[in-house]
Amino acid sequence: MKRSITLRMVAMFAVTTLMVFGVIGAALYGVLSRELARHQREELQTAYQDMEYMIKRGGTPERWEHAQAKMDTLMQSSGSLFFWANSSDPRYRYGENLAEIESRLVPDSPMGVLVLPGRAYPLFTLTRTIAAYQDRPAIQLTVAMDSMPYVHTLHAFLTALLVLSLSAVLLVVVLGYCIARVGLRPLQKMSAEAQMLGARTLSQRLQSESLPEELDDLAVAFNGALSRLETAYKQLEAFNADVAHELRTPLTNLIGETQVVLSRRRTAEEFQEVLQSNLEELERLRSIVNDMLFLARADQGEAATGRVRSSVAGEVSKTIEFLEPILDETQESIRIDGDTVAEALIEKSLFRRAMANLLQNAIEHSRPGAQIRVVIEQRPSSVSIGVSNPGEPIEASHLPRLFDRFYRVDVARHNGPRQGHGLGLAIVKAVAAMHGGDVFAFCAEGMTTIGFSVSSPAEGP
Ligand SMILES: Nc1ncnc2c1ncn2[C@@H]1O[C@H](COP(=O)(O)OP(=O)(O)O)[C@@H](O)[C@H]1O
Ligand SMILES: [Mg+2]
Repeated sequence: MKRSITLRMVAMFAVTTLMVFGVIGAALYGVLSRELARHQREELQTAYQDMEYMIKRGGTPERWEHAQAKMDTLMQSSGSLFFWANSSDPRYRYGENLAEIESRLVPDSPMGVLVLPGRAYPLFTLTRTIAAYQDRPAIQLTVAMDSMPYVHTLHAFLTALLVLSLSAVLLVVVLGYCIARVGLRPLQKMSAEAQMLGARTLSQRLQSESLPEELDDLAVAFNGALSRLETAYKQLEAFNADVAHELRTPLTNLIGETQVVLSRRRTAEEFQEVLQSNLEELERLRSIVNDMLFLARADQGEAATGRVRSSVAGEVSKTIEFLEPILDETQESIRIDGDTVAEALIEKSLFRRAMANLLQNAIEHSRPGAQIRVVIEQRPSSVSIGVSNPGEPIEASHLPRLFDRFYRVDVARHNGPRQGHGLGLAIVKAVAAMHGGDVFAFCAEGMTTIGFSVSSPAEGP
C-alpha cells in the first residue's frame, strides 16, 4: 500500500496527544494520591489525639468505660473509623479480634497498613502507647481508617483521565485529518499544474510564486528538471533535423548523377566514372552513419572497457603515421611537445580516433607548410592532449559550441575535398567522456588549440 502523508500526520497527532495526556495525567495522579494520603494521615491523627486526650487522664475503670463508649459512638457514626486498645490488664482492653489485630500490626512503627480478611480495601493505622495513670496500666491504642474512599477517588480520577484522553485522541484524529487535508492542498494544486504540462508545452514552468515556501524548493527543482528536459528535447529535435539535412545532400547528389547518366546512352568508361563518384558519396554516407552510431552508443553510456596503461606520446605518433600521406600533400609537419613520457589508461582505438579527428581539423584549418604542435601535459589526476595550429582566431561565442554535433563555424567555407560533416569534435568529446576526461578549446597568439583530457589515476593496472 502507498504511504499517505495525511494518515502519517494523523497518526503522529494522535500519538502526540496520547503522550501529552499520559505525562500530564501521570503528574496529576502523583499529586492527587500524595494529597489524599496526607489528608488521611491528618484525619487519623486527629481521631487518635481526641481519644488519647480522653484516655490519658482517666485512671479508673469508670473512666475507661466512658472512653469505650466514646469509641463505640465514633466507630458507629463514621463507619470508616476503627479502634483497638490493649494493655496488661484485661479490664483495660477494647476492640474485636484484638489478639489477631495485634499480631498483624507491624511492631515498633506508629503508622501502618492493616489488611483484614473480608475487607476489600486495607486500613491505615496509627498505633501509640499511652502512659499508665493511677490504677490504669499503659495502653497501646490503635486507630484505623478505611482506605476505600481514597482508593475510590483515585479510581474515579483514572477513569476520567482515560475517557478524556480517548475522546481527545478521537477529536485530534478528526481535526488532524481535516488540517492535513487543508495543509496538503497546495501539493494537489501543484500536481494538477504539473499534469497540465506536456511535450508541446515544455517551455511552461510551475508558478512558484503562488506556492507556499515549503514547496518552493520542489518547484525550483522540478522547473530545473523541465529546463534540462527542454534543452535535451530541443537538441534532439535539432539533431534530427541536422541528420536529415546531412543525409539529404549526398542522397540528392547520388540520385542526380544517376539520373543524368541514365538519360542517354553511355560508354563503359562514363559509367565507371559515375560509379566511382557515387562510391565516394556512398562512403561519405557510411562514415556519417558510423559516426552517428558511435555517438549513440556513447550516449547510452558505453564506457571504454579495454583501457590499458600506454604512452600518450606513443599513441599520438602512431596516429600521425596514418596521416603521413596527407601531410606530404600539404607540406605540413607535426611536432610532439610537453610531457612526452606521460602515461595514461586509454583504449587505443578510441584514443586514435579522437586524435585523428583533432589532427585532421588542424591540418584542414592551417595553411600549407604550417607547423602543427601536439602538447601533452601531465596533470595531478589526468593527462591533457592539445593540438595547436596557426590560424585565424575563432570567435569566442563559437568556442563552447564547437563540440556540439553538426556544429560548424563557417558552413560556406566547407566545400574542401576533405570536408567533414561536423561530428569530428563531438566524437572527441564522447571519447574524452569515456575516459573520464573533458575537452577544451582556446585561441591565443595566432594559434588555435583544441584538445581533450583523459583521467589518469596515480596507480593503475
Ligand atoms: N583547428 C581548428 N581551427 C579552426 N576551427 C576549427 C578547428 N577545428 C575545428 N574547427 C571548427 O570546429 C568545427 C567542428 O569541427 P568538427 O567537429 O571536426 O567538424 P568538421 O571538421 O567536420 O567540420 C569545424 O567546422 C570548424 O569550424
Ligand atoms: Mg573535423
